[in-house]
Amino acid sequence: MTQAPIPLAGVLGKPVNHSLSPRLHAHWLRTYGLPGHYVPLDVSARDLAPAIGMLPRLGFVGCNVTIPHKEAILSIADVITDRAALIGAANTLIFREDGKIHADNTDGVGFLENLRANAPDWQASAGPAAVFGAGGAARAVIVALLDAGVPQILLTNRTRARAEGLRTEFGHRITVVDWVKAGNIVEDAATVVNTTSLGMTGKPPFRVPLDGLDRRSVVTDIVYSPLETTLLAGARAAGCTVVDGLGMLLHQAVPGFERWFGTRPEVDAATRAAVLDG
Ligand code: ATR
Repeated sequence: MTQAPIPLAGVLGKPVNHSLSPRLHAHWLRTYGLPGHYVPLDVSARDLAPAIGMLPRLGFVGCNVTIPHKEAILSIADVITDRAALIGAANTLIFREDGKIHADNTDGVGFLENLRANAPDWQASAGPAAVFGAGGAARAVIVALLDAGVPQILLTNRTRARAEGLRTEFGHRITVVDWVKAGNIVEDAATVVNTTSLGMTGKPPFRVPLDGLDRRSVVTDIVYSPLETTLLAGARAAGCTVVDGLGMLLHQAVPGFERWFGTRPEVDAATRAAVLDG
C-alpha cells in the first residue's frame, strides 16, 4: 500500500528569513499532530515564475507569498479570487490537482478576524473608520472594512495622490484628508487603523496627534514589532480598546493552513506564545 505524500507548504518572498510564518505553521502542525512541513522559500523576482512552476512537482500543495511578490503573483496565477483581484495582490496560493494555481488574499479577513476576536463588541456599522496609509496593506484593510459595512472611511496618507487613487478606485465611502491634518480623522472614528510602517522597529515613530481620540474607539495597528506601538500606547492611555497587529498575521494564515493541511487551526494564546517565543 502506498502512503499519501507528506504535504509541503511554505512562504515565498525575498528576504524571507525574518518571516514568522514557518514558526506559526510548525506550531499548528505540532498541535494538531498533522503530517506536513512549512518552509521559508527565498526567491527573487526573476525566479518567481519558474519557482512557482516547480513547487507542485516537488510535493507542495500551496504556499504563502510575501514581499515583494504579492502583486506580481497575480500575473502567474490561473484563478484569482474576487477579493485578491480587488486588493490587487495575493498572499495565499493553492496548487490544485488539475494543475491550476489558485490565488487568494486573506489579509483583509485576517484583519477583520483579529478585530472581532480581540474587540468582540466591535461593529463595522458603529461609525466611520480612520485609516492611516494608502499602500498595499491599506488596500486589504479598506476592502475588508467596506465589505464589513463601515459607513465611511476617512483616509490620510503622506502622499495624498495615493489616497486619492484609492478613493477613485473604491468609491464614495472614502473621504481623503490631508496628512497635515491626520490627527483630525480620529475624531468621531469608531475604528482607527494604522496601515503605515510608522512605529515599526527601525522606522520613524508614529507621531500623529491623538488628542481627538474617542475612548469608545477600537484602535488597531498592522505593525506588530513592537507589539505595543506608540499608537496603541496612546490609544490605551485614552481608554480605547486596542488590538495589536500580531493577530492579523496569525489570522491571515488560517485559510491557507486549512486548505493545505486539512484542519482549521485556532488562534489562541498558545499560538501567540509559539510565534513570539520561537
Ligand atoms: P505596504 O504594502 O506594507 O502597505 P507600502 O505600499 O510601501 O507598503 O506602503 C507603506 C505605507 O506607509 C504608505 O502609506 C506610506 O506612505 P507614502 O504612500 O507616502 O509612501 C507610509 N509611510 C512609510 N513611511 C512613512 C513616513 N516616514 N511617514 C509617513 N508615511 C509613511
